[in-house]
Parts: sequence; structure tokens; C-alpha cells
Amino acid sequence: METIPSFETLAEKFLGTGFPPHLSGAVSLAELPPDTQGFVLRVLDLMKRSKYCLTEFNPVLLRWLSVTIPGILPGAWGGRIPPITASARHRKLDDYLAGQDFGPNKGQNIFVDMGCGFPPLTTADTAGRFPGWKIYGVDRSFADYVVYDTRGNYACFSREGEFLYFQPSMDLAVRARYSDPRGTKNRFNQLFTDLLPLLRNINIRTSETVEKDGNKLIHHHILDFETRNLRFIKSDIMDLKPMAAKVFRCMNVFVYFTRDIKKKVLGQIKNHLKNKGLAIIGTNSFGIQSRYAVYKKESNGLFLREFAFSLDNLGHISLMPWFTVHGNDPEAILLAKLSHTIRSHACFWAQFSRHLDQLMESHGFCKRKPDGFLHFPNQEMLPNDFLEKNGLVWREMEEKGYTKGTIDVLSKAGYEAWINSAGDIAIQPPVGALS
Ligand SMILES: C[S@@+](CC[C@H](N)C(=O)[O-])C[C@H]1O[C@@H](n2cnc3c(N)ncnc32)[C@H](O)[C@@H]1O
Repeated sequence: METIPSFETLAEKFLGTGFPPHLSGAVSLAELPPDTQGFVLRVLDLMKRSKYCLTEFNPVLLRWLSVTIPGILPGAWGGRIPPITASARHRKLDDYLAGQDFGPNKGQNIFVDMGCGFPPLTTADTAGRFPGWKIYGVDRSFADYVVYDTRGNYACFSREGEFLYFQPSMDLAVRARYSDPRGTKNRFNQLFTDLLPLLRNINIRTSETVEKDGNKLIHHHILDFETRNLRFIKSDIMDLKPMAAKVFRCMNVFVYFTRDIKKKVLGQIKNHLKNKGLAIIGTNSFGIQSRYAVYKKESNGLFLREFAFSLDNLGHISLMPWFTVHGNDPEAILLAKLSHTIRSHACFWAQFSRHLDQLMESHGFCKRKPDGFLHFPNQEMLPNDFLEKNGLVWREMEEKGYTKGTIDVLSKAGYEAWINSAGDIAIQPPVGALS
């Protein structure tokens, strides 16, 4: 039987000697599910390509690998792509669109949010931001039932009552109680069983909410999100009826597809776009650490117009640059290549890193100690607190001119680079770098 090497051995094989001694034992590779083991190998490969150092290894990263990732990869949901989404996740992409000139408009512009997730919070955000557009949220699966508990967690159920997906609240104290997936599933199955008999209109396609002891069951919840300019279509992307869209957004979906499927889906997207229409395809976290490609439809095909990424991908404790579901993810590899170029600029990178360390210390994230490693306070930061402070750190980095500085480094290295209308770093991708 093949023995699985220790995480420390693997990390040193990819990134050189010097694994942080105080973090030894934090990841036990052998105990992780097989899809997470593959994930860890891809992370180390991307780190190597990015010139990321072992000195940046930190408890946030190692906890993400050993606790968060096994619970969010498709393997945790019976192989299904989870409907994970969050409000304001695509605010910057909405800024990007607001900055585009779509020319004179005959009739209402159409925007398609493909794989919009559920509950479809990002699509609702975009519909609110662009009241003059017709917005469609499309997904192959909208859960028929949702149970919200009293602590802000929710679980989705199919028409047949099968438990599909659970999303914990952003409150860390609450999250900790749900670290046992089986117990959580049992608890929500019980809530579903208790609440289901209270529904009165089960055979009518209308939204209905019933409540008991503060826990809520909502049937056909998707209908609650429809507004004057927002509709939802339950369809697989390959079966979608022609849309004539001006914009086709597909965020946090392609990352789950293999190269072959991506190619087929891109072909489909081309058919749903109007001439001069845009397709925005990429990955991000809660509105941070984004990477995306923008394609433009011309009369003779779909052309890659830019590849963009947010400055925070260069952070010492950033996670999304390493998030992939399949090997050879072209956007992740291109981001790694660009990061390598930036980290190789000794003068810029030393200043960038020093400044980032100072900001992370002043905002209470962590402190770089004389051993060269980042040390964190014992108390973990609440996710909302983390996002707020993280936003402040990166706003300051942008204000100090590091976005512009990154553009200069990339330009000197031969890339055509600019700051796009989302405020992100955009480049003209080298031929063949993406699909
Ligand atoms: C991680 S969620 C992304 C949600 C949202 N776009 C966001 O960025 O917050 C991925 C969604 O893609 C949907 N999906 C995956 N493959 C699909 C396909 N072939 N056709 C339609 N929807 C798909 C899944 O059902 C899931 O709801």
C-alpha cells in the first residue's frame, strides 16, 4: 500500500526547507478525504508557481486546508456543486459593468447570472443595482425547500425531502457548533420533518413560509426573490433557451468544470450573447480575492478581452489564489504566473510585504515575529470582523498605490496591464494562456 507523506514533507518538497515548527502537525494529510488530498497537492503546486514562501504559512491557511475545504468541495455534498453564495459577493463586478459603454440600447439589456446559486443573493444584488436591465438568474438546481434555524444557519431540501446543502451562519461561535456534519444533517432533517406538515399549499406553486419555535420552513423560496426586473430559470447551462444577453456572468461555476466541459460551456455562452456582449467568468470569495476573465462577443466569435485579479490575491494570508477543483486550472495558473513576476521584483515586493505586515499588525490580524513567521492571537476573529478589517487593510494598500505599483511591475515585465473599472489589475492575457 502506498504511504501518504506528511504535509510537512510535501510542503518542503514543493517550497524548500523551513516548515514553520510551531505549525507542525496542523494538517494531517492521511486523515483528509481523497479530494482534499488532491486539493492540497494543487495548492502546493500553485504556491510554487507563485513564488509563495513557507515563511507565509499561517494558522488561517492550515485551518482552511484541514477544516474548511473538506466541508465545501463537491465530495462533501454527494458530488454536487454546492449553491454557496453570499450577498455583495459581486459588488465589484457590478462596478465593472457600470463602467462599461454598451452603446445605444434598442430595448432592455439582458443580464444572465449563470449558476446563480441559492438563495440567489448576488443576482438580487445585481437586479437592484441595474433596475433598467432585465436580469435572469439561472441554475440547474433551486432547492424546493429551505429551513432557516434560529441562529442564522440554513439547509436546502429537494422536492422529495432530501437534505442537499447546509450553510452555517457567519457567527464563529455558531459555526463551531455545526462542525459535526452528521449531527447538523440530523438536526435539520428533524426540523424539516417537524415543519413540513404545517404547510397548507404544498401542491400550489407559490411561496409559503411556516414557523415553529423561531425555526422557519419556506417552500418555493426562489419566488420570493423575483421582482419587476428579475426572473429565475431552472436549467442546466447546456439546455438553456437562447437568451440574447448583453452580459453573461458565470462566477464560481467554471472552477468546478474540467477543461473539456469548460470548452463546451464557453461555446454555449457564445450562443447566448448579443454582438459586443460580455461574458465574465471567474472565481472569488466573499467579494474578495477575485480572478476572472472577460470575453467579448464579436461577429466572428468570442474573444478573450482581459484577465483580471484583485490586489488582495497577493496577500500573505489570502486563500482563494489556491482554490481549484481540478488540476491545471488555467485561470489559477495564470494568476500564479503573474504573482511570480510580482514577487520576483525584489524591491517592490519587499516594500509591499513590509507594508502589508504593518497593516495586518495594526488591525490586529497577526504580527511577524523575529523567527520570520506570522503569529496570530489565540482568539480567532469572527468572519464578519475578519472581512471588515481585511477590507480596511486592502483599501489602505490600494490607497498607498500598490495597485498602480503592481501594474508598473507587470508592464516592465512585458504585459499590457491596466486598472479596470472594478479597480482590479487587468492584463491582456498572452495568447494561449486561457481557453
Ligand atoms: C458555488 S455556486 C455559485 C453561486 C454564485 N454564482 C456566486 O458566485 O455566488 C455554483 C452554482 O452553479 C450551479 N451549476 C453548476 N453547474 C451548472 C450547470 N451545468 N448549469 C447550471 N447551473 C450549474 C450549481 O447548481 C450551483 O448553484
